[in-house]
Amino acid sequence: MANQQSPSASQQHIMGVYNRAPLAFERGEGARLFSTDGEAYLDCVAGISTDGLGHAHPALVKALKDQGEKLWHVSNIFRIPQQEALADKLCAATFADVVFFGNSGTEAIECALKTARKYHAANGQPERIDIVGFDGSFHGRSYAAVNASGNAAYLEGFGPRLPGYVQLKFGDFEALAEAVKSPTCAGVIVEPVQGEGGARALSEAQLVELRRLCTEAGVLLIFDEVQCGMGRTGKLFAYEWADGVAPDIMAVAKALGGGFPIGACLATAEAAKGMTVGAHGSTFGGNPLAMAVGLAAFGEINTPELLDNVKTVAGYFTQQLNGLKDRFPDIVADVRGKGLLIGVKLIPNNREFMALARDQKLLVAGGGDNCVRLLPPLNLTLDEAQEAIAKFELACEAARKAAAA
Ligand SMILES: Cc1ncc(COP(=O)(O)O)c(C=O)c1O
Repeated sequence: MANQQSPSASQQHIMGVYNRAPLAFERGEGARLFSTDGEAYLDCVAGISTDGLGHAHPALVKALKDQGEKLWHVSNIFRIPQQEALADKLCAATFADVVFFGNSGTEAIECALKTARKYHAANGQPERIDIVGFDGSFHGRSYAAVNASGNAAYLEGFGPRLPGYVQLKFGDFEALAEAVKSPTCAGVIVEPVQGEGGARALSEAQLVELRRLCTEAGVLLIFDEVQCGMGRTGKLFAYEWADGVAPDIMAVAKALGGGFPIGACLATAEAAKGMTVGAHGSTFGGNPLAMAVGLAAFGEINTPELLDNVKTVAGYFTQQLNGLKDRFPDIVADVRGKGLLIGVKLIPNNREFMALARDQKLLVAGGGDNCVRLLPPLNLTLDEAQEAIAKFELACEAARKAAAA
């Protein structure tokens, strides 16, 4: 199954931190990816929730080309009109008053954590440094981010845990009520819908309770919408599903750039009050090229048509996948998630199932709790969704045969 025409002879000079599928692609069009050996795959990974508009979307390609011929990069020591325009749009569409742009989800998280601590320092309470996070969460790979998510596998071998990070069980509100009362608590970080953890969604009631507990305790609520934001759940941001719930700080990335690396930390003016000149910075963050693509992606995603499409296609997937769960109780244990962040908890090994799906020319992502995730482009058509389900069913049949063999 090795990719015959792989452009590189080996991976020997690539740091071995990924377990890669034996597959490389040379072209993409919408939800379709074409491998270097000429096969067409239906892409329900979308760069793990990043290619929100699929591949080679004409509006994004045009924005990239147009800006690419004018100006790629200037330092943030100058004003950048495209950055100001995207920040205006993000603030108009959300709770936020201000935005800091970086290049990745991890950088958005880094800024979010620093903003939370700096807020309390600005309030004369620098001892408030604790960030409360949840098991099964994923916030990125910087040292701060792995400490915030607390996943032992990502921490092992990197020396002592950083002080100021507290881990609770996902959804343990009793423990949370205690933790936020601590005089050293700075904030709570949570993904409204956990991505890597296996598409686990907090309920609307839980989001309301989370907001209430943080407000009462005077600590900041940070939403990590790197994976579940930018239309993925059928609203521009997942927190909008719960009435009256907004974070103080939010990390956004992935589909914000439609495949171009962009991260953004959004905050209220109050929460960002410690982030004054010199408190933070980035060389590349928010440069004209990235912002031109971000503006184009935002314009395409933040439309009723696109968000309605997510709801329609997600409804179809949920119904069909639950049908497969009934027909393949030996393969499918659970269907969960929100919108087009879909988790299918499997009985056979999820990695082996991903290979069986690839045999059917369907790409799905892995996830915690033995899930595979379906994270297709947000503009997937119902016909494509139908095709994805047909391929998924064939993979279920293959998994059943493999289990019987
Ligand atoms: C919820 C969440 N937060 C943060 C990150 C880190 O983003 P990046 O890989 O762009 O640094 C990810 C990446 O998968 C994520 O899913």
